[in-house]
This record gives sequence, C-alpha cells and structure tokens, in this order.
Amino acid sequence: MSNQNMGNQNMGNQNMSEQNEGSASLAGTISLGGKLSVHRLGFGAMRLTGDGIWGPPKDRKAALSVLRRAVELGVNFIDTADSYGPHVNEELIAEALFPYPKDLVIATKAGWNRPGPNQWTHDATPAHLRKAVEGSLKRLRLDRIDVHQLHAPDPVTPFEASVETLAELQREGKIRCVALSNVTQEHIERARKIVPIVSVQNRYSFADREWDYVVDYCERNHIAFIPWFPLGAGRVAGEILHRVAKATQRGSMQVALAWLLKRSRVILPIPGTSSVKHLEENIAAASLEETLQKADCCE
Ligand SMILES: NC(=O)c1ccc[n+]([C@@H]2O[C@H](COP(=O)([O-])OP(=O)(O)OC[C@H]3O[C@@H](n4cnc5c(N)ncnc54)[C@H](OP(=O)(O)O)[C@@H]3O)[C@@H](O)[C@H]2O)c1
Repeated sequence: MSNQNMGNQNMGNQNMSEQNEGSASLAGTISLGGKLSVHRLGFGAMRLTGDGIWGPPKDRKAALSVLRRAVELGVNFIDTADSYGPHVNEELIAEALFPYPKDLVIATKAGWNRPGPNQWTHDATPAHLRKAVEGSLKRLRLDRIDVHQLHAPDPVTPFEASVETLAELQREGKIRCVALSNVTQEHIERARKIVPIVSVQNRYSFADREWDYVVDYCERNHIAFIPWFPLGAGRVAGEILHRVAKATQRGSMQVALAWLLKRSRVILPIPGTSSVKHLEENIAAASLEETLQKADCCE
C-alpha cells in the first residue's frame, strides 16, 4: 500500500471515529402505548452472557461497562429476558445500573426457557409466567416491570391463556405495559382483544424482511416494532448496504441500523454487542438518516 493510500486510510479511520460520537436521542423518540417514551435506538443485552447465551459473560467488568456506556450514550430502552443466562442478564443490568436513571425502560420477557447452551424450550403456561415475572422483579430490583413481553407463543398452551396472565399481572400492578415477541399478525389481533399491546419483537433486518407485513401492521396501529437480530450478528450484508457504507464512509452495521430507523417510524432497533467500540459505532447510526437520504438508500 502506498504512503498516500495509507494516509487516506488513516484519515478515513479518523473520520470514522469522529462520526462514532453520537447519542441515541438523535434517533428521536417513540411512545410505548402512550405510557412511556424512549429514544428510538435501544440496546439488546442478550450478548452479555456466556457462550450460547448461557452462564456469566467471560469478562464481567467489560459487560458492566457496555451497559453503563449505553446509558451514557442516551440509550433509555434496554431489552433482556429471564432466559438470557438464564437470569444472569437481568442480574447484570441491575448490578450495572441500579438505582436506575428515571427515564430508563427495561423490557424483559418470559415464555421461553434456557435449559442449556443454545437450547430453548417453551413454557408460557400461566403458572410459569407468574413465577417468571416474580423472578424478574426480584433480579431487576423493581416493583413493576415497565414492558413485559411474551417471549413466544407456546404450542401447548392456549395463546389467550398466556396473554390473559400478563393482563392479570398488569392489573395487579406488576407489569406496566404488555408486549409480544415472535408472533404473527393474527396473534397480535387476538392479544389486542385481551389487553393493549405496546410492542412486537420479531426477527428483522435489512437482509431479512420476512416480517415486513407485521411492521406495516404495527405502523398502522401505533405499536412499536422491535427488530431482533438487526445486524445479523454483525454479518448483515447486501450489495446496496456495502455501496452506501462506502459512499458515506460509514460502517455497514451503521447503515443497516439507519435503514431500520428509516424503514418505519415505529421501528425501535436494539442492536446487541459486548464491546464498547461496537456500541459507540451502533449508537452513532442514530444521526444517519440524512446521510442515507443523500446516498439514496431508502428502499
Ligand atoms: N425476541 C427474541 O426471540 C430475540 C431473539 C434474539 C435476540 N433478541 C434480542 O435482540 C437483541 C439483538 O439481537 P442479537 O444480539 O441476536 O443480534 P444483533 O444485534 O444483530 O447482533 C449482535 C452481534 O453482532 C455483533 N456486532 C454488534 N455491533 C457490531 C458492529 N458495529 N460491528 C461488528 N459486529 C457487531 C456483536 O458482536 P460483538 O459482541 O463482538 O460486538 C454481536 O455478536 C438481543 O440482544 C436480544 O435482546 C430477541
């Protein structure tokens, strides 16, 4: 590589690090059922566990730093679940951030269990959901969970029974807002007959648009759509993505997040990472909308 090229590359790195200064507030805000308002770029904490989302993180101190840095960068929506670790993830959030900033919303989930590394089993029975919510309240050191998501419909428990249990827990003051994950439009419609649904969390990204119609449904009905796996675990790819990243001198993960923010005003991305550097890069995507418009990457 010539010295000149190396010089350009260094300049590129310098620009990149300047561009990585950002705040989640620049993504604007989103209302969750008219009860809560959060910045429209959150943090998914799942990766702050051991391999296979099992056990404690390899570097506990680093994991705590990521959570604290997220809040410093204006993140006020953190996604977790009782099954991440299991339990480890919720405990880590409390250790890093309790007493919580006033505006911080923690969204947890129940209905899936983690019996071993990379293993999931369903349990969304009323008895299990009740026990799980009590456990989350304790681990998160809260009197009420701001957003509680049914992690997934349980094939052997009637869906209505799971949702009705969350509605009861809401009436009892243990949950503020009820939400869903891994659902179809039909599930959402059935759930909304029982209780208002503030958000839906399904797998979705620039490269994975299976749930497009659910995004549109959420937009029409003022429900937040939370895309999980928004970066395809750091491997989200596509020709347009790389072209725009090159043209705007941004990382392709940033462009992928900016695309999500632009795709719909109801999208609330929760990219996950165990690295402060990646976190800073991801949060800087909050200010990218204009850049994307110039680069014509809206479709
Ligand atoms: N509802 C559900 O069923 C469900 C399922 C899965 C996940 N979730 C939630 O969704 C959140 C996000 O999903 P996810 O973690 O599976 O997927 P993701 O956000 O697409 O990917 C996270 C992975 O991407 C890497 N990464 C992050 N930023 C990067 C960057 N700037 N450059 C390169 N690599 C980067 C991270 O590695 P490093 O640690 O090395 O940065 C991490 O392994 C989770 O934390 C969890 O809260 C929900």
